[in-house]
Amino acid sequence: MRDFLVLLVLLTALASGCYAAKLPSYFGKPCSRSAPEPELSACAEKATNMGIASLTNGDRKIRVGNLNPLVVPRVALSQGAGQIQLNLTWEPLSIYGLRDGVVSNMKISWARKTNEFDMTFPTFTMAGPYRAAGRILLLPITGAGPSNFTFTNLRLHYGYEWPLHKANDGKEYATIANSHIEISGADGLRSELNGLFNGDKLLGAQMNTFLNENWRDLLRELGPSMLDAAREVTESVLKNLIASVPVPELFAP
Ligand SMILES: *[C@@H]1O[C@H](CO)[C@@H](O)[C@H](O)[C@H]1NC(C)=O
Ligand SMILES: *[C@@H]1O[C@H](CO)[C@@H](O)[C@H](O)[C@H]1NC(C)=O
Repeated sequence: MRDFLVLLVLLTALASGCYAAKLPSYFGKPCSRSAPEPELSACAEKATNMGIASLTNGDRKIRVGNLNPLVVPRVALSQGAGQIQLNLTWEPLSIYGLRDGVVSNMKISWARKTNEFDMTFPTFTMAGPYRAAGRILLLPITGAGPSNFTFTNLRLHYGYEWPLHKANDGKEYATIANSHIEISGADGLRSELNGLFNGDKLLGAQMNTFLNENWRDLLRELGPSMLDAAREVTESVLKNLIASVPVPELFAP
Protein backbone atom coordinates (compact mmCIF):
# COMPACT_ATOMS: atom_id res chain seq x y z
CA MET A 1 0.00 0.00 0.00
CA ARG A 2 0.95 3.57 -0.43
CA ASP A 3 3.06 4.89 2.34
CA PHE A 4 2.28 8.48 2.86
CA LEU A 5 1.74 10.78 5.70
CA VAL A 6 -0.32 13.86 5.63
CA LEU A 7 0.49 16.47 8.20
CA LEU A 8 -1.91 19.23 8.50
CA VAL A 9 -1.79 22.22 10.72
CA LEU A 10 -5.16 23.86 11.04
CA LEU A 11 -4.95 27.11 12.91
CA THR A 12 -8.69 27.47 12.69
CA ALA A 13 -9.54 25.01 15.42
CA LEU A 14 -13.15 24.00 15.68
CA ALA A 15 -14.94 26.16 18.15
CA SER A 16 -16.52 24.11 20.88
CA GLY A 17 -20.06 24.47 22.07
CA CYS A 18 -23.24 24.06 20.10
CA TYR A 19 -25.45 26.74 18.67
CA ALA A 20 -28.67 24.87 17.95
CA ALA A 21 -29.06 26.55 14.57
CA LYS A 22 -31.69 25.60 12.03
CA LEU A 23 -30.82 23.92 8.75
CA PRO A 24 -30.07 26.88 6.43
CA SER A 25 -33.02 27.49 4.12
CA TYR A 26 -30.89 27.17 0.94
CA PHE A 27 -30.87 23.40 1.56
CA GLY A 28 -34.64 23.35 1.23
CA LYS A 29 -36.94 21.46 3.57
CA PRO A 30 -35.31 18.89 5.91
CA CYS A 31 -35.66 15.34 4.57
CA SER A 32 -37.77 12.80 6.40
CA ARG A 33 -35.61 10.33 8.30
CA SER A 34 -38.39 7.73 8.32
CA ALA A 35 -38.53 7.60 4.51
CA PRO A 36 -37.11 4.45 2.89
CA GLU A 37 -33.34 4.77 2.42
CA PRO A 38 -33.41 5.31 -1.38
CA GLU A 39 -35.92 8.12 -0.89
CA LEU A 40 -34.01 9.66 2.01
CA SER A 41 -30.80 9.44 -0.06
CA ALA A 42 -32.37 11.09 -3.10
CA CYS A 43 -33.79 13.86 -0.92
CA ALA A 44 -30.48 14.49 0.88
CA GLU A 45 -28.59 14.49 -2.43
CA LYS A 46 -30.97 17.05 -3.88
CA ALA A 47 -30.70 19.22 -0.76
CA THR A 48 -26.90 19.07 -0.87
CA ASN A 49 -26.75 20.07 -4.52
CA MET A 50 -29.22 22.86 -3.90
CA GLY A 51 -27.22 24.26 -0.99
CA ILE A 52 -23.56 23.89 -2.00
CA ALA A 53 -23.15 27.18 -3.86
CA SER A 54 -24.80 29.23 -1.08
CA LEU A 55 -22.90 27.36 1.61
CA THR A 56 -19.57 28.19 -0.01
CA ASN A 57 -20.40 31.90 0.23
CA GLY A 58 -20.04 31.43 3.97
CA ASP A 59 -22.65 31.33 6.70
CA ARG A 60 -21.91 32.71 10.13
CA LYS A 61 -24.92 30.98 11.70
CA ILE A 62 -23.26 27.63 11.13
CA ARG A 63 -19.70 28.90 11.53
CA VAL A 64 -18.67 28.45 7.92
CA GLY A 65 -16.38 31.07 6.41
CA ASN A 66 -16.16 32.04 2.75
CA LEU A 67 -14.95 29.03 0.77
CA ASN A 68 -14.34 30.76 -2.56
CA PRO A 69 -11.52 29.99 -2.09
CA LEU A 70 -11.05 27.95 1.05
CA VAL A 71 -7.79 29.24 2.52
CA VAL A 72 -5.79 27.00 4.84
CA PRO A 73 -2.88 28.66 6.67
CA ARG A 74 -0.49 25.75 6.15
CA VAL A 75 -0.64 22.31 4.58
CA ALA A 76 2.33 19.97 4.54
CA LEU A 77 2.47 16.57 2.96
CA SER A 78 5.31 14.15 3.11
CA GLN A 79 5.35 11.11 0.88
CA GLY A 80 8.14 8.61 1.33
CA ALA A 81 7.71 5.65 -1.00
CA GLY A 82 7.05 4.75 -4.62
CA GLN A 83 7.84 6.92 -7.60
CA ILE A 84 7.31 10.10 -5.66
CA GLN A 85 9.37 10.93 -2.61
CA LEU A 86 8.47 14.41 -1.75
CA ASN A 87 8.04 16.95 0.98
CA LEU A 88 5.59 19.55 -0.20
CA THR A 89 4.31 22.48 1.84
CA TRP A 90 1.90 25.24 0.97
CA GLU A 91 1.74 28.31 3.15
CA PRO A 92 -1.06 29.21 2.73
CA LEU A 93 -3.01 26.83 0.47
CA SER A 94 -6.06 28.13 -1.40
CA ILE A 95 -8.61 25.64 -2.72
CA TYR A 96 -10.83 26.88 -5.56
CA GLY A 97 -13.80 25.18 -7.17
CA LEU A 98 -15.76 23.87 -4.20
CA ARG A 99 -18.85 25.90 -5.11
CA ASP A 100 -19.29 24.03 -8.41
CA GLY A 101 -19.15 20.59 -6.83
CA VAL A 102 -21.99 18.24 -7.78
CA VAL A 103 -23.01 15.29 -5.63
CA SER A 104 -24.37 12.03 -7.05
CA ASN A 105 -25.05 8.42 -5.98
CA MET A 106 -25.67 9.43 -2.38
CA LYS A 107 -26.40 6.49 -0.08
CA ILE A 108 -27.39 7.67 3.36
CA SER A 109 -28.54 5.22 6.01
CA TRP A 110 -30.40 6.38 9.07
CA ALA A 111 -30.21 2.89 10.61
CA ARG A 112 -26.43 2.47 10.23
CA LYS A 113 -25.62 6.21 10.49
CA THR A 114 -23.47 6.10 7.36
CA ASN A 115 -23.30 8.21 4.25
CA GLU A 116 -21.37 7.95 1.00
CA PHE A 117 -21.52 9.77 -2.29
CA ASP A 118 -19.65 10.69 -5.44
CA MET A 119 -18.62 14.24 -6.09
CA THR A 120 -17.51 15.91 -9.31
CA PHE A 121 -15.65 19.21 -9.54
CA PRO A 122 -15.40 20.66 -13.07
CA THR A 123 -12.24 22.52 -12.01
CA PHE A 124 -10.55 22.04 -8.67
CA THR A 125 -7.47 24.12 -7.95
CA MET A 126 -4.96 23.89 -5.14
CA ALA A 127 -2.77 26.97 -5.34
CA GLY A 128 -0.43 29.02 -3.22
CA PRO A 129 3.19 29.60 -2.26
CA TYR A 130 4.89 26.20 -2.04
CA ARG A 131 8.16 24.71 -0.94
CA ALA A 132 9.15 21.32 -2.33
CA ALA A 133 12.06 18.93 -2.03
CA GLY A 134 12.43 15.36 -3.11
CA ARG A 135 11.99 13.25 -6.21
CA ILE A 136 9.04 13.10 -8.59
CA LEU A 137 8.89 10.13 -10.96
CA LEU A 138 12.61 9.61 -10.27
CA LEU A 139 13.67 13.17 -11.12
CA PRO A 140 15.06 15.35 -8.33
CA ILE A 141 12.96 18.42 -7.62
CA THR A 142 13.47 21.43 -5.38
CA GLY A 143 11.77 24.76 -5.41
CA ALA A 144 9.85 27.50 -3.69
CA GLY A 145 7.44 30.01 -5.18
CA PRO A 146 3.89 30.32 -6.49
CA SER A 147 2.16 27.08 -7.49
CA ASN A 148 -1.07 25.98 -9.10
CA PHE A 149 -2.35 22.42 -9.42
CA THR A 150 -5.63 22.33 -11.35
CA PHE A 151 -7.67 19.15 -11.75
CA THR A 152 -10.26 18.95 -14.53
CA ASN A 153 -13.46 17.01 -13.87
CA LEU A 154 -12.12 15.64 -10.64
CA ARG A 155 -14.29 12.75 -9.45
CA LEU A 156 -14.18 11.69 -5.83
CA HIS A 157 -15.86 9.11 -3.69
CA TYR A 158 -16.39 10.12 -0.08
CA GLY A 159 -17.80 8.11 2.81
CA TYR A 160 -18.18 8.58 6.56
CA GLU A 161 -20.07 7.50 9.65
CA TRP A 162 -22.13 10.03 11.58
CA PRO A 163 -22.63 8.77 15.14
CA LEU A 164 -24.96 10.80 17.35
CA HIS A 165 -24.21 12.26 20.75
CA LYS A 166 -26.04 14.45 23.22
CA ALA A 167 -24.48 17.88 23.68
CA ASN A 168 -24.50 20.11 26.76
CA ASP A 169 -27.67 21.79 25.54
CA GLY A 170 -29.46 18.41 25.83
CA LYS A 171 -29.94 18.18 22.07
CA GLU A 172 -28.71 15.42 19.81
CA TYR A 173 -25.99 16.22 17.26
CA ALA A 174 -24.15 14.16 14.65
CA THR A 175 -20.38 14.02 14.27
CA ILE A 176 -18.22 12.66 11.47
CA ALA A 177 -16.08 9.58 12.02
CA ASN A 178 -14.00 7.17 9.94
CA SER A 179 -14.22 9.22 6.78
CA HIS A 180 -12.35 8.19 3.66
CA ILE A 181 -11.90 9.75 0.28
CA GLU A 182 -10.80 8.20 -3.00
CA ILE A 183 -10.10 9.70 -6.38
CA SER A 184 -12.31 7.89 -8.89
CA GLY A 185 -10.80 9.76 -11.80
CA ALA A 186 -9.98 13.06 -13.46
CA ASP A 187 -9.69 14.25 -17.03
CA GLY A 188 -6.57 16.27 -16.40
CA LEU A 189 -4.13 17.65 -13.85
CA ARG A 190 -2.23 20.75 -14.80
CA SER A 191 0.75 21.63 -12.62
CA GLU A 192 2.48 24.96 -12.58
CA LEU A 193 5.39 25.31 -10.20
CA ASN A 194 7.31 28.57 -10.28
CA GLY A 195 10.70 29.04 -8.67
CA LEU A 196 11.98 25.52 -9.33
CA PHE A 197 15.71 24.80 -9.03
CA ASN A 198 16.62 28.17 -7.54
CA GLY A 199 14.79 29.98 -10.29
CA ASP A 200 16.56 28.23 -13.19
CA LYS A 201 14.06 29.05 -15.95
CA LEU A 202 15.10 26.31 -18.38
CA LEU A 203 15.13 23.50 -15.82
CA GLY A 204 11.92 24.80 -14.31
CA ALA A 205 10.13 24.87 -17.67
CA GLN A 206 11.37 21.35 -18.44
CA MET A 207 10.09 20.06 -15.12
CA ASN A 208 6.65 21.65 -15.61
CA THR A 209 6.44 20.14 -19.10
CA PHE A 210 7.47 16.78 -17.71
CA LEU A 211 4.86 16.96 -14.92
CA ASN A 212 2.13 17.90 -17.38
CA GLU A 213 3.07 15.18 -19.87
CA ASN A 214 2.97 12.64 -17.04
CA TRP A 215 -0.11 14.00 -15.29
CA ARG A 216 -1.73 10.56 -15.02
CA ASP A 217 1.22 9.22 -13.02
CA LEU A 218 1.22 12.35 -10.90
CA LEU A 219 -2.52 11.97 -10.26
CA ARG A 220 -2.08 8.34 -9.26
CA GLU A 221 1.01 8.85 -7.09
CA LEU A 222 0.51 12.26 -5.53
CA GLY A 223 -3.24 12.85 -5.96
CA PRO A 224 -4.30 10.77 -2.93
CA SER A 225 -2.07 12.68 -0.49
CA MET A 226 -3.15 16.01 -1.95
CA LEU A 227 -6.81 15.08 -1.72
CA ASP A 228 -6.42 13.71 1.76
CA ALA A 229 -5.11 17.12 2.81
CA ALA A 230 -8.08 18.76 1.08
CA ARG A 231 -10.47 16.29 2.74
CA GLU A 232 -9.38 17.30 6.22
CA VAL A 233 -10.11 20.95 5.61
CA THR A 234 -13.35 20.56 3.68
CA GLU A 235 -14.51 18.10 6.29
CA SER A 236 -14.08 20.74 8.96
CA VAL A 237 -16.80 22.68 7.10
CA LEU A 238 -19.16 19.71 7.17
CA LYS A 239 -18.30 19.20 10.83
CA ASN A 240 -19.17 22.80 11.64
CA LEU A 241 -22.45 22.46 9.80
CA ILE A 242 -23.59 19.35 11.62
CA ALA A 243 -22.16 20.51 14.96
CA SER A 244 -24.32 23.64 14.65
CA VAL A 245 -27.61 22.06 13.64
CA PRO A 246 -29.21 19.51 15.99
CA VAL A 247 -30.37 16.26 14.38
CA PRO A 248 -34.10 17.08 14.75
CA GLU A 249 -33.43 20.22 12.64
CA LEU A 250 -31.30 18.34 10.08
CA PHE A 251 -34.02 15.72 9.50
CA ALA A 252 -37.77 15.86 9.71
CA PRO A 253 -39.48 12.99 11.58
C1 LIG B 1 11.29 15.03 4.08
O1 LIG B 1 11.47 15.61 5.36
C2 LIG B 1 11.91 14.69 6.32
C3 LIG B 1 11.90 15.38 7.66
O2 LIG B 1 12.39 16.68 7.58
C4 LIG B 1 13.29 14.17 5.93
O3 LIG B 1 13.74 13.24 6.88
C5 LIG B 1 13.19 13.51 4.55
O4 LIG B 1 14.46 13.08 4.14
C6 LIG B 1 12.61 14.45 3.55
N1 LIG B 1 12.36 13.73 2.31
C7 LIG B 1 12.72 14.16 1.13
C8 LIG B 1 12.35 13.29 -0.04
O5 LIG B 1 13.35 15.21 0.96
C1 LIG C 1 -4.66 28.10 -11.85
O1 LIG C 1 -4.50 27.65 -13.19
C2 LIG C 1 -5.71 27.64 -13.94
C3 LIG C 1 -5.47 27.03 -15.31
O2 LIG C 1 -4.28 26.42 -15.46
C4 LIG C 1 -6.24 29.04 -14.07
O3 LIG C 1 -7.43 29.05 -14.80
C5 LIG C 1 -6.48 29.61 -12.68
O4 LIG C 1 -6.89 30.95 -12.77
C6 LIG C 1 -5.23 29.51 -11.81
N1 LIG C 1 -5.62 29.87 -10.45
C7 LIG C 1 -4.82 30.53 -9.61
C8 LIG C 1 -5.38 30.85 -8.28
O5 LIG C 1 -3.69 30.83 -9.91
